Amino acid sequence: SSTKLLIKGGTVVNAHHQEIADVYVKDGIIVAVKPNLRVGDDVKVIDATGKFVMPGGIDPHTHLAVEALNTESVDDFFSGQAAALAGGTTMHIDFVIPVNGSLIAGLKAYEKKAKKSCMDYGFHMVITKFDDIVSRDMEIMVKEKGINSFKFFLAYKGVLMVNDELLLEGLKRCKSLGALAMVHAENGDAVFEGQKRMIQLGITGPEGHALSRPPLLEGEATARAIRLAGFVNTPLYVVHVMSIDAMEEIAKARKSGQRVVGEPVVSGLALDDSGLWDSDFTTASKYVMSPPIRASGHGKALQDALSNGVLQLVGTDHCVFNSTQKASGIDDFRKIPNGVNGIEERMHLVWDLMVESGQISVTDYVRVTSTECARIFNIYPRKGAIIAGSDADIIILNPNSTFEINARSHHSRTDTNVYEGRRGKGKVEVTIAGGRVVWENNELKVVPGSGKYIEMAPFSYLFSGIDRADASYLSSLNAPVKRFKSTT
Ligand code: URP
Ligand code: ZN
Ligand code: ZN
Ligand code: ZN
Repeated sequence: SSTKLLIKGGTVVNAHHQEIADVYVKDGIIVAVKPNLRVGDDVKVIDATGKFVMPGGIDPHTHLAVEALNTESVDDFFSGQAAALAGGTTMHIDFVIPVNGSLIAGLKAYEKKAKKSCMDYGFHMVITKFDDIVSRDMEIMVKEKGINSFKFFLAYKGVLMVNDELLLEGLKRCKSLGALAMVHAENGDAVFEGQKRMIQLGITGPEGHALSRPPLLEGEATARAIRLAGFVNTPLYVVHVMSIDAMEEIAKARKSGQRVVGEPVVSGLALDDSGLWDSDFTTASKYVMSPPIRASGHGKALQDALSNGVLQLVGTDHCVFNSTQKASGIDDFRKIPNGVNGIEERMHLVWDLMVESGQISVTDYVRVTSTECARIFNIYPRKGAIIAGSDADIIILNPNSTFEINARSHHSRTDTNVYEGRRGKGKVEVTIAGGRVVWENNELKVVPGSGKYIEMAPFSYLFSGIDRADASYLSSLNAPVKRFKSTT
């Protein structure tokens, strides 16, 4: 696009610095960030006086058009992204699910789904088994396909779950490729047992979902994954940290110097489990996600962990099924497709919960919603920054305006919203994606096919110095090296 834009007089915020400046955008790229820029009259000028000009949000965790329990989530790569743009998110990273265990076939399927994209996106790859072909394909993903992260599920027994042996193989392969290992940390065997207990007790409603997989199972799996990653000496990214139990394991590991990244999701920060006990099934079932939304108290602890740096970036796990799809589980919570919305709400809720409440600064807001994600997945400063040369993915947020969330006015295709009725301060008034104004005056102007695939290179900053740590591994164990005589 040859559009030229000047964003005038706003407070430009990056993760480490903020200042009043103008931002000049040309051909989808930020060309200059300086006070009092002078430009020709062919340039569209947007007045941002009194507002914050920030990097567009990057959602590290989404599932668009994903298949689960014989159905497909209702937001696809167009509707989910349109919703994202209306809420100030300009890039997301989605999880490719292998097809019959094939990474190559899985990627092909997702490339097809993503053709209609109206914003930039990247991929993580899920690993469900490990053999020579998977090992080879992981290398192809990293070296040829722009994927630098692999997710392992310690839950969903019989579907996606991996055992410790497979996790170890996967961790070693990730390490050798410079790719980041991600874990869904719940003990799937114990969850299976917990589900049987609930059904035996006659608890078949949505509350049974939460009761069957309590925080201790998340804490156990988080601790186990962290220790195994420590044993292999490779960085670990724990997705959707929902409980104090999991968060405390991450805190302990980070304090000891281990490279562990913790990702809370908006639902975990903003909600508690009370909705799961609602007598109306449609209401209760919309909150069903895994790990479950926890009892009151966990959310505030996760907010504290985000503000003190134990947790580093916020995702959504946006994965929406409408009330008809959720009703498949009306007699059995195990059949309710898992997932909640959030791709459109994340930027507003994190602002209101964390910045407006005084828990984090505006620069920290940029870090946890955008910059840290770009650094971890190695696309900084192309993404996650407002500096000359970066992609023109920019939002203008008015701290004095208000937002209100409801299913009638949201842009997602689902018919419910877990944040129904929420209001707050701070509104994304303008979203610019790839240099195009896509959200302005509460109106979306999105074009299918305009989103670009963002390739992500291996060996992010999380890997710096890792090999040297390996060389000292034996000495760190205090193990003398035995020399054996050869037996001829
Ligand atoms: O309930 C959830 N989280 N659904 C999406 C799949 C996952 O575990 O991330
Ligand atoms: Zn400056
Ligand atoms: Zn997960
Ligand atoms: Zn997820």
